[in-house]
Amino acid sequence: MCGIVGFTGQLAAAPILLDGLAHLEYRGYDSAGIAVCNELTGKTEVVKAKGRLKILSEKTDEGRAVPGCCGVGHTRWATHGEPSEVNAHPHYSRDRGVVAVHNGIIENYQELREKLQKDGYSFVSQTDTEVAVNMLDYYYRESNGNALEAISRTMLRVRGSYALGVLFADRPGVIYAVRKDSPLIVGRNADGCFIASDVPAILGYTRDITYIGNLEIAELRPDGVRYFNIDKEEIEKPVVHIDWDAQAAEKGGYEHFMIKEIHEQPRAVLDTLGAYIKDGAIDLSCVGLTDEELRALDRVVIIACGSAYHVGVAAKYVLEELAGIPVEVDLASEFRYRNPILSANSLVVVISQSGETADSLAALRLAKERGVRTLGIINVVGSSIAREADSVLYTLAGPEIAVATTKAYSTQLIAIYLLSLHLARARGALGEERLAALIAELESLPGKIERVLGDKERIQWFASKFAGARDIFFIGRGLDYAISIEGSLKMKEISYIHSEAYAAGELKHGTISLVEDGTLVVGVLTQPGLYEKMVSNMVEVKSRGAYLMGLTNDGNYSVEDTANFTVYVPKTEPCFATSLAVIPLQLMAYYTSVAKGLDVDKPRNLAKSVTVE
Ligand code: AGP
Repeated sequence: MCGIVGFTGQLAAAPILLDGLAHLEYRGYDSAGIAVCNELTGKTEVVKAKGRLKILSEKTDEGRAVPGCCGVGHTRWATHGEPSEVNAHPHYSRDRGVVAVHNGIIENYQELREKLQKDGYSFVSQTDTEVAVNMLDYYYRESNGNALEAISRTMLRVRGSYALGVLFADRPGVIYAVRKDSPLIVGRNADGCFIASDVPAILGYTRDITYIGNLEIAELRPDGVRYFNIDKEEIEKPVVHIDWDAQAAEKGGYEHFMIKEIHEQPRAVLDTLGAYIKDGAIDLSCVGLTDEELRALDRVVIIACGSAYHVGVAAKYVLEELAGIPVEVDLASEFRYRNPILSANSLVVVISQSGETADSLAALRLAKERGVRTLGIINVVGSSIAREADSVLYTLAGPEIAVATTKAYSTQLIAIYLLSLHLARARGALGEERLAALIAELESLPGKIERVLGDKERIQWFASKFAGARDIFFIGRGLDYAISIEGSLKMKEISYIHSEAYAAGELKHGTISLVEDGTLVVGVLTQPGLYEKMVSNMVEVKSRGAYLMGLTNDGNYSVEDTANFTVYVPKTEPCFATSLAVIPLQLMAYYTSVAKGLDVDKPRNLAKSVTVE
């Protein structure tokens, strides 16, 4: 996510902004900038830089070169528009009458951009933020310089999520802070008033903060803060004392980044859906293929590593079921050294959170050498794979800090569901009614994921019982097998317990010999058509002494006749079940690792992005 800091008071603002942004670096970013009102000249100075904050600090002589006591700063995690100085924040209107920084996603920015262009506005960046800034400028002029009116009307016009820090040139010393869904806080001490997207940015200045509520506005002056609702009515807001230490504050009060990111999944899924579903219809024009070209495809070849590969295994079931197109899935490290048979009408899809995984990048290049159309499903804007693929379907998970992926994995699944429905529509594999029902079910997933997270205490209790296990096996059939392999990897990579995932039908071909008295076996049963078969497999392992955990849909209570412990997830379309069933498995791995006192966020021997072979 992007980072926001603002200050107005008796001290030079720029050094405070740079210091605050430095405390937000953990959030991940690709560029940064500050804007400071120079009281002497009456002008707002804006300085931006691509890359690390150090570059911006050097460019501003650690803030000394940008005088003034009121300003805003920003670290950008690119969602709309490549990482660049032009796309970096702060953004400003044509005469710098309005300057702002933004965290979030303006979903209807294209429509607003067209409207503003008709009103004579021009744009220099590819960002949704510049559209929001010019909307503020438009309504500020319309309201003859009434800041609250301009902000309120902009809030009513804009769809999506935002935390905004806004400066109006003709209101020196005043900062307006506005939020919807993206977090934004206010702080105050004897030297002035602060805004920040997260506590760590201002913890060094004050521990007394106020959380701005949804659709609320804060007006900061050097000597105090006033709060308003969207109707411009003044409201009272409580002050909260923060007693976290700086490290805990970076994790938003969570103990580890991984558990924080597990809990960010509803938001990440919502943001990814919101980027591509407009008024109930899927807009995947980013894939860059016409319906005719989509119909001409004879195969989809999915290539990835690790958890991204596990998304590919799930994708095979989903794409073939919904779009009726043959799908091959391959490990990038294998694909790149095979002599892959690729027809001219294949679509190669490379899935990668970082967009820098060496094997996946090499596999992409091999596919391109063979003249095959390539699509990247990528989380990091402007990464190598994103730049080299013919087209990109970005996930909007935001920066993922924990080495073990969770929210990026979940948004990759969403990308696959969207691609499947996009292909199904183009190929006439699904009727309008069925398509609409599936899209509606997709939009229910964030809420259903939230409900699964509500069960975490039971999972924590169960995980702590098996923290000493020597082996843990996961079994499933069909899509449940794809879920099992991800659950097994999560367990292995952060708890260091040996674990394997098996297609349940394979047990009798050898692997069942590993089951002993008390061996924990997790049976995944979300697929109605395979439910009875799975129960039989679970009975097989139980009769050999296994301790059984069942993971199934609400209502399948008969599982408890066989399983020793059962976890339920809300019902959903069988094709989308992975998005819900994976959550308890992420939590189980997390709590097992915590129970063993291990370094959950940075497991031994692992890197967040494997940029070498
Ligand atoms: C997953 O928890 C691991 N961190 C790892 O398997 C990861 O999914 C794999 O290295 C692929 O990374 P990428 O998505 O950035 O290409």
